[in-house]
Amino acid sequence: MVAARITVNGKETPISPAAPHTTVLDFLRERGLTGTKEGCAEGECGACSVLVARPGVNKPTDWVAVNACLVPVAALDGQEVITSEGLATAGESGMPASLHPVQEEMAVRGGSQCGYCTPGFICSMASEYYRPDRCAHPNSAEGTDTDTEHGPNGFDLHALSGNLCRCTGYRPIRDAAFAVGTPTENDPLAQRREQSPPEPVSTEYTRDESAFLRPGNLADALQLLRERTDAVVVAGSTDWGVEVNIRSRRASCVVAVDRLPELREMRVESDHIEIGAAQTLTEIERRLDGSVPLLAELFPQFASRLIRNSATFGGNLGTGSPIGDSPPVLLALEASVVLADADGEREVPLSDYFTGYRQSVRRPGELIRAVRIPLPLSPVAAFHKIAKRRFDDISSVAVAYALDIEDGIVRKARIGLGGVAATPIRALATEAALEGKPWAAETVEAASRVLQAQGTPMDDHRASAGYRSAMLGQSLLKLYAQTTEAVSS
Ligand code: FES
Ligand code: FES
Repeated sequence: MVAARITVNGKETPISPAAPHTTVLDFLRERGLTGTKEGCAEGECGACSVLVARPGVNKPTDWVAVNACLVPVAALDGQEVITSEGLATAGESGMPASLHPVQEEMAVRGGSQCGYCTPGFICSMASEYYRPDRCAHPNSAEGTDTDTEHGPNGFDLHALSGNLCRCTGYRPIRDAAFAVGTPTENDPLAQRREQSPPEPVSTEYTRDESAFLRPGNLADALQLLRERTDAVVVAGSTDWGVEVNIRSRRASCVVAVDRLPELREMRVESDHIEIGAAQTLTEIERRLDGSVPLLAELFPQFASRLIRNSATFGGNLGTGSPIGDSPPVLLALEASVVLADADGEREVPLSDYFTGYRQSVRRPGELIRAVRIPLPLSPVAAFHKIAKRRFDDISSVAVAYALDIEDGIVRKARIGLGGVAATPIRALATEAALEGKPWAAETVEAASRVLQAQGTPMDDHRASAGYRSAMLGQSLLKLYAQTTEAVSS
């Protein structure tokens, strides 16, 4: 097996002697690439953002921005990374000869004061700059900008939702983002998109009794998980990276599953959609392109673009957090999980999957291979996330709805809740209070009182139990207000 290595700004660099838990951030900084900064070490500030060459949705390769503080460097064995230093064209002396177009716009528009956040913003901006399907806003010819979240150049501000700036203020940064043009034909990173991304490699990286292992296929992964009962399974590492950095957890064995081909497929069949457990949320969002409206509502509210570039359904369900944002949505969609082990597969309805706080029916050695969403979809769908910030935040309460309303009658109601019990739950009593009844103010008011009493919410630093209950009730009233017109028309 070839020694683990990573290509940084075009230069191949051995990973050894880094420890298996060493993050990409620490690895880069220890090698002098100090543009990549640590702000929070838990995926919330984006100061550590770097670009990674990943399989593309519209081109062979996408330049994807990720949080370097969360990803173990061993997870990028064989991969290509670009940092803020690598974006500028190198001059003869080794010093930057010219700024990259996004760096240039940030400089001339006053997008940087102390500069601490700037390299991270630059990398997130560059990822959006190189997004192949970014296209000019329809109103750009008139120079208008009617969509506050997209620039006239098609720049999606959500690309920066995971980057925080403490001193400049966001207006000049937005100005810079909305001013960037399109890559020229000679741009080497634009050209790189036309070639395949680096192939996933099998990795066995061991130091001092701890190991980072990347099996090459599902069968090897399942055999490994049967043998190594001490293994921590990671995909995007957005959860495990926080455990390592903030809680100083160390694992004797980490097994990466995010590049397993069997976990990266998406199939649309006549009666269901199957989504591979290791596809990132960004990939799912772009591949589905709004065809599952409830998921389309979820994605912009799930953490930040930086996190969605790495996070997966497999990870969000695997950790079993009661405040993960995908379980309420997947419960409302009546999804099931496909669990695989060395002996075969089984399919479990998500409503039967969670058994207790961060516990599930998943057995030792089992892996979530895919999520299945049955078709057809219910036409009325909504996801209400109650949190202190609009983006890049953790839910106090999350409510997902999928309703069939025909001739003014609720034929079917599926409601998923997060943040109000030890596990994500279905609001069964509320569903029963709605089904068979007219979709009318009287029904909804009565059902909202039922919903308000569902779960066993508790007080914590995010919200009180009383607030959580009140928000449940308000959520259904809001849905009614939002949908009445659509249903009656
Ligand atoms: Fe804050 Fe990585 S250091 S997101
Ligand atoms: Fe100082 Fe953003 S420029 S934190």
